[in-house]
Amino acid sequence: MPQLKDLDKIKSLPTSLVIFGATGDLARKRIFPALFKLYTSNLLPSKFKIVASARTPHQSEEFRRVVKEYIKPEIDSDWNNFSINIDYLSLDVAENKNLKELLAILEKFEVEIGTCIQRVYYMSISPDIFQSAVKNIGINELNEPCTHNSKPRIIIEKPFGRDLKSAQELDQTLSKYFSEDQIYRIDHYLGKETVQNIFAFRFGNEIFEPIWNNQYVDNIQITMGEYIGVEKRGVFYEKTGALRDIVQNHLLQLLALSTMDQPESFHAKSINAKKLEIIKSIKKMSADEITKNTVRAQYKGYTQEENVSETSQTETYALTKLELQHPRWTNVPVYLRAAKKMPGKITSIIFQFKEKGHKLLEDSDAQLPNTITLQIQPNEGIGIRLVAKKPGLTADFQPVDMEFCYKNTFDTPQPEAYERLMMDVILGDQSLFMSQEVIAESWKVIDPIEEAWAKGSPQLVTYKPGTWGPKEADDLIEKDGRQWLAPLLEVCKI
Ligand code: BG6
Repeated sequence: MPQLKDLDKIKSLPTSLVIFGATGDLARKRIFPALFKLYTSNLLPSKFKIVASARTPHQSEEFRRVVKEYIKPEIDSDWNNFSINIDYLSLDVAENKNLKELLAILEKFEVEIGTCIQRVYYMSISPDIFQSAVKNIGINELNEPCTHNSKPRIIIEKPFGRDLKSAQELDQTLSKYFSEDQIYRIDHYLGKETVQNIFAFRFGNEIFEPIWNNQYVDNIQITMGEYIGVEKRGVFYEKTGALRDIVQNHLLQLLALSTMDQPESFHAKSINAKKLEIIKSIKKMSADEITKNTVRAQYKGYTQEENVSETSQTETYALTKLELQHPRWTNVPVYLRAAKKMPGKITSIIFQFKEKGHKLLEDSDAQLPNTITLQIQPNEGIGIRLVAKKPGLTADFQPVDMEFCYKNTFDTPQPEAYERLMMDVILGDQSLFMSQEVIAESWKVIDPIEEAWAKGSPQLVTYKPGTWGPKEADDLIEKDGRQWLAPLLEVCKI
């Protein structure tokens, strides 16, 4: 991960960034705001060019105005100084239309500043066309370095493929034109401050390591609940569903980071090797086990959303119970849940500890297991649930919470995930990006579930928007003698 000293280095790394799919939601809501924030924080190279491209025709000036309306910059002059570096070019990267023009713009900028520079391609386009887009980049020699030291980099958005086979095909195409050190497979969760803090929490505080295993942990619950529905993303969502959209990437990454052994260093290779051990250890379930251990559900009203089929079987709620065949975690079930249209937004990782029959509590009926909540968002923080004696003359106990909340502890605002990740690409740091092997192993976990679901097993059930999901999800965990701990153990609420 970059250190403070690397931040200065960024100024002296002139860069051209091409955003394919620049008129899309992701570019508008996340990529441009992140780049502007980096600019106002003085964290972009002194010389940079952004080429925004998509099929829709626009003049550069008009496109900058559209982005400005979305970003609503506080200081106009900042925006003007930043946006002057954005050119818009209408092209079709999947159909190989106008890519020569793109090369001409990149070369012209290099002539203007009198040096050969690093080029970065951001594929913020539909996953269906990643492969043809990469091929066309290659055909037009946009992958060629302009000097030996400035090999272009390519950023690929998630989901990377839609199953193992397509992910491998995409990898093959990529490897024809780019080497591994040029490929940045993005999962924006890895750029979140609280996700990086999992490293600090686990490996910077030695008190937790001795209990971070199956002797002490009873179960792990990872929840990503969103308040929103599919909004304007019906076309994408119909092809994807919650399992591919969230579980295959964000949730398996959170699982890997919170359970992996300590890496030898914080470099990409060591981190990915440890993550890989966890993802490889996930037991591949049989069809019967999938029926028993998963729930797929759709919120009522989903089929009336824009661009959604009236007979859609796409899940907006995915739950899977997993087993890790890893010496540290044998017999510790992991529950992963991702859902839209929940009563609120919450992403958390909760470790529930075993109750070992504390002497003091022998006569107490209360269930008082310890828990640790790593709350990724919102109200970022960490909570530890302890047992305390209630003040008074009797020996009564109750759970109490110890909390660390970012907002009460730090004055510095947290950078957005995309700021961190864009900066890392420019600096050439891959530690917060996914490796080819980690993605392939993740699909090996997801593919059998997708196959069983496609055959209707278990059946798709529905849930009411604004609730925490279907009854089947409660049944699944309750039959194990447990209950959902999110949002019950939400921390840092006020
Ligand atoms: C994206 C998914 O990866 O993450 C979206 O495609 C989801 O469906 C989004 O809404 C959530 O991101 P965040 O950062 O708001 O939790």
